[in-house]
Amino acid sequence: MSFNVKDVILKEDRPKTLLLQKHSDYLATYGQNKDDYEFCMTEYLRMSGIYWSLTAMELMDQSSRMPKEEIIEFITSCQDKESGGISASIGHDPHMLYTLSAVQVLAMYDRLDAIDVDGVVRYILSLQQEDGSFFGDMWGEVDTRFSFCAVMALSLLHRLDAININKTVDFVLSCMNFDSGFGSKPGSESHAGLIYCCVGTLSICNRMDALRADELAWWLCERQLPSGGLNGRPEKLPDLCYSWWVMSSLSMLNRIHWVDKKSLEQFILACQDSETGGFSDRPGDIPDPFHTLFGLAGLSLLGDTSIKSVNPTYCMPQETIDKLKLQPQVLH
Ligand code: FPP
Ligand code: ZN
Repeated sequence: MSFNVKDVILKEDRPKTLLLQKHSDYLATYGQNKDDYEFCMTEYLRMSGIYWSLTAMELMDQSSRMPKEEIIEFITSCQDKESGGISASIGHDPHMLYTLSAVQVLAMYDRLDAIDVDGVVRYILSLQQEDGSFFGDMWGEVDTRFSFCAVMALSLLHRLDAININKTVDFVLSCMNFDSGFGSKPGSESHAGLIYCCVGTLSICNRMDALRADELAWWLCERQLPSGGLNGRPEKLPDLCYSWWVMSSLSMLNRIHWVDKKSLEQFILACQDSETGGFSDRPGDIPDPFHTLFGLAGLSLLGDTSIKSVNPTYCMPQETIDKLKLQPQVLH
């Protein structure tokens, strides 16, 4: 048995301050050259890429640098008329993940009129199974992340009553493990990303009373490593996106103070690329819009006032959630 902890060492010459202007420049130029190798290679997740970039820009109060009309037109063309679902890119198959991203983007733009809302509701409803679980698309993969996408998208549309909420909650609770965490399906090991999805589902459905909050928060805060970063499961390396999956869950559980905030902040700042802008998964790696959003959103949860307040359930600006009059549950 080994007692070596997998971790990274933060270098002395790492970024120690928040490079907001660089991050705004990085995201503003990211999608501009549509022939870029990286841009082409990420077509299969374009819709989520737009959500990550726009949310990050909103949190920095820089969203006017995004091509709003082009984005809205793109989303309209990604909706499948027959099923009502939305795809990652024009001509691709619809999927729950991209349907949620599209709804999130349109909610931030206050332009939900740009899609057929009844179509989206019909699509999500068609994916709910007898046991309350959800398929990700017509191919039938079940995962608690799809339960979360379903309730989040429907609640943003004020149409949560379209699905069977009790069965949705029962399925999520059937994925709770002996350690009080959650996995992707019943019996699957606890994973911080899926804990966020399950706690988020219960937060939206107002059923957080069903959680074993102390044990779950203990498992979550044990994800912090000596570098200050957080991993997603025991024995894994730290990864910046887990500062979101773990800290948002702890925030809904009202136990964010169970982690060492100072060292986590240092880890997050160290994941910035001081030349190109943007954040990466670990210090020194190549940045991307996904980790850029979770770096900024993580710092917002830690109380950085140069970033707008983020809602821990929706991973969207709190002001958008307030405007929609949504009140996802947090423990007190
Ligand atoms: C890790 O995935 C992350 C998760 C399992 C959570 C995914 C959450 C959603 C899709 C819900 C929508 C999200 C937001 C922010 C609104 P991974 O497969 O990369 O895990 P790994 O790190 O173990 O490879
Ligand atoms: Zn990551």
